[in-house]
Amino acid sequence: MAFRHFAIFAVILAKAEPEVCEEPHHLHLVQRQLQLLRAPSTRPWEEARAAAKSVASKLANEELYDLVRGSHFAWYGSPDPGYYVGNTPAIPRFRIPALKMQDAAQGFRATEVGTAGTTTSFPSMLALASTWDEDMVRLVASALGTEYKGKGANCILGPSINVHRAAAGGRNFEYLSGEDGHLGAKLTAAYVKGVQDQGIIATAKHFAFNEQETNRMSMDARMSERSQEELYYLPFRAAAEAGVGAVMCAYNKVNGTYACQNSEILTADLRGKMGFSGFVMSDWTAMHSKDALHAGLDQEQPGMIKKVPVVGEVGVLADSVIKTLDRSVVENAAVHVLTAIFRLRLDQDMGCTPPNCTQELMSDQTKATTRGERHEDIALRAATSSIVLLKNGNSLLPLDKGKVHRIAVVGNASADETHRTFVGKGSGFVQPDSSAKTPLQAIEEKAAKAGMQVLKPEGASVEEAASLAQSVDAVVVVVGTDASEGVDRSSLGLGDTSEAMIKAVAAHAPTIVLLQIPGAVLMPWREEVAAIACQFMGGVATGAAWASVLFGDAAPRGRLPVMMPETSADVIPVGQDEEVVYSEGLLTSYRSPTFRAAFPFGHGLAFTSFEYSGPHRLHKDCGVAVCVAVLVKNVGQRSGEELVQAYVHFPDPVGGDEAWIQATPDIMLKAFRRTKVLHPGESQTVRFDFSASDMKLFCSERGWVAQQKIEVRFGASSKDIRQTLATELAESE
Ligand SMILES: *[C@@H]1O[C@H](CO)[C@@H](O)[C@H](O)[C@H]1NC(C)=O
Ligand SMILES: *[C@@H]1O[C@H](CO)[C@@H](O)[C@H](O)[C@H]1NC(C)=O
Ligand SMILES: *[C@@H]1O[C@H](CO)[C@@H](O)[C@H](O)[C@H]1NC(C)=O
Repeated sequence: MAFRHFAIFAVILAKAEPEVCEEPHHLHLVQRQLQLLRAPSTRPWEEARAAAKSVASKLANEELYDLVRGSHFAWYGSPDPGYYVGNTPAIPRFRIPALKMQDAAQGFRATEVGTAGTTTSFPSMLALASTWDEDMVRLVASALGTEYKGKGANCILGPSINVHRAAAGGRNFEYLSGEDGHLGAKLTAAYVKGVQDQGIIATAKHFAFNEQETNRMSMDARMSERSQEELYYLPFRAAAEAGVGAVMCAYNKVNGTYACQNSEILTADLRGKMGFSGFVMSDWTAMHSKDALHAGLDQEQPGMIKKVPVVGEVGVLADSVIKTLDRSVVENAAVHVLTAIFRLRLDQDMGCTPPNCTQELMSDQTKATTRGERHEDIALRAATSSIVLLKNGNSLLPLDKGKVHRIAVVGNASADETHRTFVGKGSGFVQPDSSAKTPLQAIEEKAAKAGMQVLKPEGASVEEAASLAQSVDAVVVVVGTDASEGVDRSSLGLGDTSEAMIKAVAAHAPTIVLLQIPGAVLMPWREEVAAIACQFMGGVATGAAWASVLFGDAAPRGRLPVMMPETSADVIPVGQDEEVVYSEGLLTSYRSPTFRAAFPFGHGLAFTSFEYSGPHRLHKDCGVAVCVAVLVKNVGQRSGEELVQAYVHFPDPVGGDEAWIQATPDIMLKAFRRTKVLHPGESQTVRFDFSASDMKLFCSERGWVAQQKIEVRFGASSKDIRQTLATELAESE
């Protein structure tokens, strides 16, 4: 079943012709760009809801039906040119536009024949997570919004925000949260604002507990209320609070009931506890029963479709079925859809109506600009910011042209002109356009400018790479592995050939390993090499981003949004049974007391180093529960930014019994903040303000319980805690 559906969404697209593009610039313009953000022009929810109710009450039954079920489904080569992945018809007499929905993960997915490479292939959501940079995420999301608008769409089927559980999850590259709910919450809010500022509905997905692909169509996720509240729900709550217009319910079951007909999660939790005000659409074919509308589903996607490849006919809400539902049930769902439409003011700019969207769909968006900046440059800056430097022995990077004269570039991803490990596969696949450079091409260009010689192998053999390594000052090995929606990765390894290649060249020359990966990988060879950096599917600019960091034009700024495990036993395995019990609770990733990390969650080096000192509590001008600060000084030789992470430890957790205390993680990420670029010797005080809710723990019997004793641990990663501040909160807080 899963495979059959996977086949629907697998996308096979034309190859892009690589060509040389203009020299990109790397100034950190994000802040300035964001100041230019136009004021949000959304209607208040109350006003949108009132308008929706008024219109819905006047609609004919058939018009209501149009709002609660999709009408067409476009895939590459589908018989519906001029349509999108998800569609509802326009209702012109009430200025209700067609909903035009498109995937998502790395940009606007090409479904119209002949349009591969006409949208920017941005870094994946996981690559964006590794920037730990809300401004960068918001900028990329704005650029996405601009391209969607240009393509005639008004709804993006993203962001994907599930918190990773299983390290080998096939869709992990699509998930903006990495392994942490707090990181996910911050970045999700930024993404939702970025997209919706452009008048495009964002869709938070996949709600909920779609943390693996194995058996995704039927698997039953079972978790405690505490894990949902303290971990997996955090990004969804943030999406709701940021005013997300839509949520997509998941394929799987939750506590025995399909997510798309689960009133507990859709109505009690999402609409009730989280205050979500938009509409819930099903994942494609994830609706199973007409009763789902009672449970909190508002729209079936893709709707009644007859010619879906492999599966044939899909859809629940046939005319004969929908007619049996009470008008009030359908009207209530339609009100939710209309509320999002009016909230985003889609009625004021209806745009094209499918199938008359061919002109928009055929347009080339790759040269678009967002607030004056070209998307090609935004994609490059985001990819560069996503690079995580894991290891840098003897400060080999950036390459010093005084010491390094000849380099070899090897590895099966170094010259791969299909750019296979730049992008994840499945519905999120976006073919890099013709500006994409292979890592080798980008390195050759920079090396020529630096006066360095680049040697490259003629074939792909380990022997040839090893022999090249004997005649150079350093070797760059570019390897990777890919992943796809619909299947989990079968291993966390890089494959025998890539591993053999790394070991063989490392025996002869200082070796720099560049990884293009869709999530956590094993690096049993890591002691043998000098330097390691990774990009989590960096999109069109992957190659160029590597070159800019290798040669020091940009500093690495990324941090791991996932833990790189020591062995395959140091992760949560993919559940193989139909019932997947989240028995580890909150203790995934760095929160586990037993998992060993090769490189811990939050890790990432700069080209300089920092010292932390003087942690202190601030009482003056602190309008929240607790304000703290730490001094960060650049003690290295080069300028750089530090990303300070504030983890909270509760020395004496109050709320539940002994088992509950045992299930409380030792530390939890509660804040992170980047310094400005600090010159050598320069310092900055980094302040963190925590709300009362940051200092609460959840237990089923008592709900959220305020903690009095806290310890803030300031770290450069989850395992590199530099300073600790113990303090107590007043009883009343
Ligand atoms: C699933 O069931 C458990 C045990 O009854 C409960 O604590 C939890 O809240 C439920 N989760 C959801 C998302 O409904
Ligand atoms: C598409 O354009 C044709 C020709 O102008 C028009 O007749 C038709 O009504 C349009 N379709 C929609 C759905 O607007
Ligand atoms: C390189 O080889 C690995 C392991 O066999 C494979 O997973 C990866 O997709 C290959 N990469 C490219 C770009 O072909």
